[in-house]
Amino acid sequence: MQKKGKFIVFEGIDGSGKSTQIKMLAKAFQKRGLDVCETLEPTFGIAGEVLHEILSGKKKADPKVTAALFVADRLDHLTNPENGVCKTLDEGTYVLCDRYYFSSYAYQSVEVPKEWVFSANSLAAETLRPDCTIFIDVAPEVAMERISKNRENIEIYESLERLTAVRCAYMDAFDSMKDVEKVKVFDGNKPAEKIAREIEEFVFGELV
Ligand code: TYD
Repeated sequence: MQKKGKFIVFEGIDGSGKSTQIKMLAKAFQKRGLDVCETLEPTFGIAGEVLHEILSGKKKADPKVTAALFVADRLDHLTNPENGVCKTLDEGTYVLCDRYYFSSYAYQSVEVPKEWVFSANSLAAETLRPDCTIFIDVAPEVAMERISKNRENIEIYESLERLTAVRCAYMDAFDSMKDVEKVKVFDGNKPAEKIAREIEEFVFGELV
């Protein structure tokens, strides 16, 4: 795909502070007069709606079905003719995305064979690889404390054991993809403003 904007993905375990960092980075783009768009997965599109119900426990599904829905949601997110990521990038807008296929590699491969998750996501990877994936690395204990303070409803994936396994699965996935993916890890245990400054320095120094 011939794109004019850049696709920057944020990843991290639940409670890592991704969404705060995305907001701060979007402001930094705007300050520089650059067109920027924030988006996230799961989306609220056709497959995304169902995923939100599964994540909140309202609907039950086998982990393989959930994994397949994440793939469907991702493809819809990319190709949707109204507001799809590919179209937005083509228009020259920078896209900051909260979660992409590394989330599936990390979360779904805890329950579904890793090879299946990788191959099921290959169409998305061939269609659009991130210009960079920014991983906010926070200790699972810190993340869990933030989650229990800030949330009314704890989602199905939010337990200390699970977050620890997911963090491990992220590290595994980064390692197995190191030849094809650009991943930059930031220490998410620092104060939010300090992390934001480090991310800003990296993005405007090396990516944009
Ligand atoms: P997110 O919206 O980041 O959670 P929150 O806003 O509550 O911090 O993500 C929702 C959940 O979806 C999160 O637990 C991770 C999970 N998820 C997957 O399991 N696989 C995926 O491919 C994606 C995109 C998300």
